[in-house]
Amino acid sequence: MSVHWKILAIFYDSQMAKSEEAGLRELRRGLVAQAAGDVLEIGAGTGANLEYYGPAVRSLAVTEPQPPMLRRLEQHVRERAPHATVLRAPAEDLPFEDDSFDVAVSTLVLCGVEDQRRALRQLARVLRPGGRLLFLEHVRSDDARLAGWQNRLNWLNRALVCCECNRPTLDSIRSAGFEATEVDHAVFPKAPPFVRPLIFGVARLPQPTGQPAPGQSTVGSVG
Ligand SMILES: C[S@@+](CC[C@H](N)C(=O)[O-])C[C@H]1O[C@@H](n2cnc3c(N)ncnc32)[C@H](O)[C@@H]1O
Repeated sequence: MSVHWKILAIFYDSQMAKSEEAGLRELRRGLVAQAAGDVLEIGAGTGANLEYYGPAVRSLAVTEPQPPMLRRLEQHVRERAPHATVLRAPAEDLPFEDDSFDVAVSTLVLCGVEDQRRALRQLARVLRPGGRLLFLEHVRSDDARLAGWQNRLNWLNRALVCCECNRPTLDSIRSAGFEATEVDHAVFPKAPPFVRPLIFGVARLPQPTGQPAPGQSTVGSVG
């Protein structure tokens, strides 16, 4: 385990507090409230999304590969979502059968996974046909000038917070076979300019014709 992750885990919640207060929390709330059925969250960190899962969620599995984050996640799961299952796993190697989930949630994770293509392929594998990926990610800017700065400063971002600020994540989601059915653009509140471009929305896997979309029924709560 790297010392870097130990330090990041200690300061993660306090470091994010201003961004959460300035609007990130509301973005999380609106996104995660759309989860329903059997739900997987990847890279759950300290558990910032846990309180926003609603009664339409039948089961919740949260994964996180870094032990210092995982310890905090386990504590927050006990307090906020005691019926959720916590597993240590990277998004590139998800320990689930094919077609296990209706919805996957990724917030501020696809910027930092080692192999984004592989992580998205894994999400497509464990989601059922027609399954949805709810995403909130900071990404490469559409503005060429800012994108240039993101390229130049990517090493710094990687060194400071273990993720990349110049990834074309929406393109990657589409390349993995998802259709981005809802995409909104926003600004990462209180973040430095090269980390500000933010996308959030819903991407859906193709669905065999004539079958109802998974994860749409109202069922028991995990809370
Ligand atoms: C910026 S934090 C976001 C945490 C949380 N999702 C949130 O929204 O607050 C990035 C998280 O991704 C996790 N992570 C890093 N590499 C990963 C990987 N290969 N697969 C899944 N998660 C990963 C980190 O351990 C960390 O918890």
